[in-house]
Amino acid sequence: MEPLYEGKAKRMWATDDPMTLRMEFKNDATAFNGEKKASFENKGRLNNAISTLIYGMLEKEGVPTHFVRQIDETNVEVRRVEILMVEVIVRNFSAGSFCKRTGFAEGVAFSEPVIEFSYKSDELGDPLINDDYIREMKLATPEDLAFLRASALKVNRLLGGFFERCGLRLVDFKLEFGRLVFDPSVIVLADEISPDGCRLWDLKTGEKMDKDRFRRDLGNVMEAYEEVLKRVKEEVGR
Ligand code: TMP
Repeated sequence: MEPLYEGKAKRMWATDDPMTLRMEFKNDATAFNGEKKASFENKGRLNNAISTLIYGMLEKEGVPTHFVRQIDETNVEVRRVEILMVEVIVRNFSAGSFCKRTGFAEGVAFSEPVIEFSYKSDELGDPLINDDYIREMKLATPEDLAFLRASALKVNRLLGGFFERCGLRLVDFKLEFGRLVFDPSVIVLADEISPDGCRLWDLKTGEKMDKDRFRRDLGNVMEAYEEVLKRVKEEVGR
């Protein structure tokens, strides 16, 4: 059997139900638009476990998502969506490409969250775009975009509080959304939420607990993901 789609860190598979797909978390990691590649034993399992617990929390808080259920260690069942080609990035502290673009030092607290959009295109390297680009490229209507913005801010409040209770600072993260294939008027949160797509710093020590450990060759990448999972599990169980 062939996957319907294979990305850098996931594969999407058909199921018996035309309304749902199986999303498989791979052990592969990439950075810098796929230029840097590696594979980490257990990454798929850890990201699946973290993402499943976070999606459970978000659903409980009333955020509509693609999540249906965890199938096994590296697979979840998700509602079938057409992914919007806009990535939504929310930043609470300066880091990564924000610092590169502005000359800011890392770790400056923002007065309000900074929202950014990028065009989901591996070929173009996910370039930064704005509302006018999104309208003209017909990636989303202005009404959809207002919804994405509001949803991203709500997710930021929920995730920020959640990770703080885990002793982690939510520095920034990337979200993807999709339209339900069987009801395209409905947009839901899609993709994974894991240390691959979030920057998380330990509140006490400032230690990086996310994919920057791989991007910057800091070592102990999976040890950090394990620690994030441990804390997320504890918080969900409280
Ligand atoms: P950036 O500072 O490199 O733009 O990244 C911002 C956030 O988005 C960071 O938490 C990592 C996440 N991210 C992804 O999930 N996928 C990507 O392709 C990129 C560039 C960033």
